[in-house]
Amino acid sequence: MGLIKKVGTKALGTPAPAEADAGTRQMPPAPAAPSAPPGQGDDGTRQTPAARPAPPPDDTRHIPPARARLPEPDDDATKRGIGAIHMLQPGTVLQGRYQIEEPIGIGGMSVVYRGRDLRFKDVVRYCAIKEMAQSAADSSTRLLNLKNFEREASLLATLQHPAIPKVYDFFEENSRVYLVIELVPGKDLETVLEEAGGPLDEVRVARWGAQICDVLAYLHNHKPETIVFRDMKPSNVMVVSHGGEERIVLIDFGIARNLNRDNAKKGTMIGTEGYSPPEQYRGVAEPPGDLYALGATLHHLLTSTDPRLETPFTFQERPIRQINRAVSHEMEAVVVKALEYDMAARWQTAEELKRALLAIPGVAMGVAAPAAPGAAAVPVVKAGQRTEVLWTFACEDEVRSSPHVAGGLLFVGCYDTNLYAIDATRGEFRWKRATEGGVSSSPTVWLDNVIVGSEDGAVYCMDMRRGALRWTFRTGKAVRSSPRVEDRVIFVGSDDQHVYAIDGMRGTAIWKYRTWNPIRSSACIAGQVIFIGGDDGHVYCLDARTGGVKWKQRTQQPVRSTPAFSEGLVYVGSLDQNLYALDAEGGWPAWRFRTGHYINASPCVVGTRVFVAGVDGFVYALDAKNGRLVWKFETGSQITSSPRVEAGRLYVGAVDGFVYCLDAGTGSVIWKHAAGGPIVSTPAVLDGVVYIGSMDHNIYALKA
Ligand SMILES: Nc1ncnc2c1ncn2[C@@H]1O[C@H](COP(=O)(O)OP(=O)(O)O)[C@@H](O)[C@H]1O
Ligand SMILES: [Mg+2]
Repeated sequence: MGLIKKVGTKALGTPAPAEADAGTRQMPPAPAAPSAPPGQGDDGTRQTPAARPAPPPDDTRHIPPARARLPEPDDDATKRGIGAIHMLQPGTVLQGRYQIEEPIGIGGMSVVYRGRDLRFKDVVRYCAIKEMAQSAADSSTRLLNLKNFEREASLLATLQHPAIPKVYDFFEENSRVYLVIELVPGKDLETVLEEAGGPLDEVRVARWGAQICDVLAYLHNHKPETIVFRDMKPSNVMVVSHGGEERIVLIDFGIARNLNRDNAKKGTMIGTEGYSPPEQYRGVAEPPGDLYALGATLHHLLTSTDPRLETPFTFQERPIRQINRAVSHEMEAVVVKALEYDMAARWQTAEELKRALLAIPGVAMGVAAPAAPGAAAVPVVKAGQRTEVLWTFACEDEVRSSPHVAGGLLFVGCYDTNLYAIDATRGEFRWKRATEGGVSSSPTVWLDNVIVGSEDGAVYCMDMRRGALRWTFRTGKAVRSSPRVEDRVIFVGSDDQHVYAIDGMRGTAIWKYRTWNPIRSSACIAGQVIFIGGDDGHVYCLDARTGGVKWKQRTQQPVRSTPAFSEGLVYVGSLDQNLYALDAEGGWPAWRFRTGHYINASPCVVGTRVFVAGVDGFVYALDAKNGRLVWKFETGSQITSSPRVEAGRLYVGAVDGFVYCLDAGTGSVIWKHAAGGPIVSTPAVLDGVVYIGSMDHNIYALKA
């Protein structure tokens, strides 16, 4: 957990004026107008009526979703990976006792560090040190923030529950206020979801939900007064692994409060837009409101659609099973009832909701033991389907990275932090090399080097035969983009918002190009230029030698798909649901094709066809010239894996855990093969073999 999350877009600078929140579903303004203040206090959390008046209750549709803000360009700060936020240096000692080690989280109102309590000389005792952001411009908001912070401290001090961190200390130093709490050795659910890059497994989510109900029941039944948490959302829940089992911990009691109705309207905090129940906008906080926000959290985890980006209270317009067919009807019904607009129609108590969650098939049963790493799993071939498993190989964690096969070896990244080299013919382990973070970037091979990015922020170049490290290149944040090579130059994007060109021999930067949000798309190299997408919604055409921008074209949402180039057109998908064909010279759209949901996957062009798959569950074959639909195939499950076409057959993985093989000409199924978990990895196809990774930790080699 060495990486800071959410930096940049949530810089704790001066809060934006209320109007800056009035974002529509559009992406943030183009970089041409960088006058936006440095980030925003939060993703909509804890706005006071002073900062943003609560809308009239019956006019809720006008509440704008608030999120993604542009950070101020601040190259130095970006290099340090910390945006414009005040940060304590590692080694700083507070109160002569708490030593700062590194930042581990940034919330709307605070920076959280991992620290060490030096009082215990012979043992290393870690703690979490939460520093209140002194960001608000006006003194009344500052005072309110301070009050909340103090309240959090004293509330935590009175609570005792295994899923609530203990509080150790509270003090002020250098006119900043600190809270020292138990360090939770896990990840918050927003991070888990971000890293998954797609919806999470229903049983896992339901079990978390049931545990959350346990702590909510504890709070709601608190004596003498009920406590309403009021800010339930993925970033305020952490999950810790406990010998194969997962335990949740509720953090962030900043706006939790005792239920005291006289007081309820004063200094009302709405919580976080998108998750907060309608009545909380009117200053009413009751236990069913926490259950609504839990429903919103479950909806987010199961669909991977962020409610902060949508109009509040519109969950019914995004039915869970329409987005993720892997979810059961039972689960959907439980969440729908939590999300009823009318408080009286919802689950009334946390205990009631917990019972409903545990009644969902598969949830109450024991947790399946994970397969031992490296053990050759028994291939699962569904009866009646003509698939042949050549080999499987088990890694220690989820495989999201896409395999690359070269020189008889298969290279693939894994969430266990390793890059693996596996014999492509026999599936035998050759070597692995650890990075300091999960590897979701896909490796590439150049000469006898294999190159890959890691969540630890670095790009690694290793000797492909033995795994010996040749060089590492550090960026400011996670590298999820996959490196691409041409003429000894490696092109790669980083979550630190830059596109880099790196000298492949020496591992040094040739140029870097700054954008306005993370770059998770990979470069498509076409002669003298590269095409790449950005989370700021742009598709960029950059000069491969200098990094100068030739053109950029804006879509309405982040572009994570990797562009494909053919005959003067650049094809790329956007989270705005469209597949675009852009003119390679000028960037203007030649055509676009609208699907039913995000397009994360990258298109591929073969002959006169362009193939793409979407989160709406369809694989599409379009006429490359004009975007007309030739055929579509419905898998009934989200697809973020990119299709590969080889010898007239199309291969793609889906979140339902199947690898599909379709006839590329007609879209009819030739075979499908069940893996043991969702597939987000893109297949590699070589010499009649399809290689693909799954979240069940395995890599599969299937006969094509
Ligand atoms: N006790 C803790 N142990 C480990 N990480 C923590 C702890 N408390 C907070 N964090 C991390 O810091 C982030 C922000 O903390 P939070 O208390 O939610 O702050 P805010 O009130 O500003 O939202 C969390 O999302 C989590 O990732
Ligand atoms: Mg928080």
